[in-house]
Amino acid sequence: MPNIIAIDGPAASGKSSIARKLADELGYLYFDTGIMYRAITWLALQRKIPVDDEVQITGLATQTMIDVRPPTIQDGRGYDVLVDGQDITWQIRLPEVDANVSVVSAFRGVRSSLTAQQRRIGLRGRVVMVGRDIGTVVLPQADLKIYLDASVEERARRRYVELQARQENVSYDEILEKMKMRDQIDSTREVAPLRPAEDAVILDSDHLTIDQVIDKVHQMIAGKSNSDPAAAQA
Ligand code: CDP
Ligand code: CDP
Repeated sequence: MPNIIAIDGPAASGKSSIARKLADELGYLYFDTGIMYRAITWLALQRKIPVDDEVQITGLATQTMIDVRPPTIQDGRGYDVLVDGQDITWQIRLPEVDANVSVVSAFRGVRSSLTAQQRRIGLRGRVVMVGRDIGTVVLPQADLKIYLDASVEERARRRYVELQARQENVSYDEILEKMKMRDQIDSTREVAPLRPAEDAVILDSDHLTIDQVIDKVHQMIAGKSNSDPAAAQA
């Protein structure tokens, strides 16, 4: 059984849904590293710190206590996210956080601070860890690396459905544009850009349900997968 499972990929490719279920089934810890970048971004917006102020934002990342604990409220959340004791589980999903998180997460100082915390937790093992750079930078020693992908149109559609359900008033076109922008920043940044690790298995989920993706992951774990890891190098 792989001890550390890394799932990377672009926004709304299904990483959290798949990782959460998989971790449940395996009795592993599910750890979504995007939460940490979102928490720092939310805090910067809250304190009216300009998101391009690298010095102040790096200061926030080194000083802020971000905590994740089992859910205390039954409102669809998988966990509570706390920043300095305040529950910000839903605030970090607001469209303004989506729109600014990639700028914040590109800062070298922010990444080194958060990466160190993520690595410490991941190295305890029995973990399904989700992000952009888990297989490449945070835990290159992961036993199973999955790069989950889907077309940007399908990913924007998924996020649109999600925001509609939460009664957020955003159009599909707006989400699509912002998602393209986030993809672009995440994959071209200098530090830890979004890309598949050389030994990752690439899974295209455009026409797959969450359960179908999980089935494929179980096949990989059982060593029966027909996926070609070499595809990751293409
Ligand atoms: O859920 P979604 O895929 O939309 O985003 P997320 O996983 O919560 O990540 C939000 C943002 O944090 C990403 O767009 C990246 O800019 C950044 N991130 C990162 O740089 N490295 C990670 N390991 C995780 C997230
Ligand atoms: O974590 P990430 O941003 O990669 O994606 P997610 O939050 O797990 O999934 C984004 C949305 O797409 C959720 O509402 C999922 O239910 C949905 N989804 C889907 O419809 N089909 C998939 N194969 C994967 C996710």
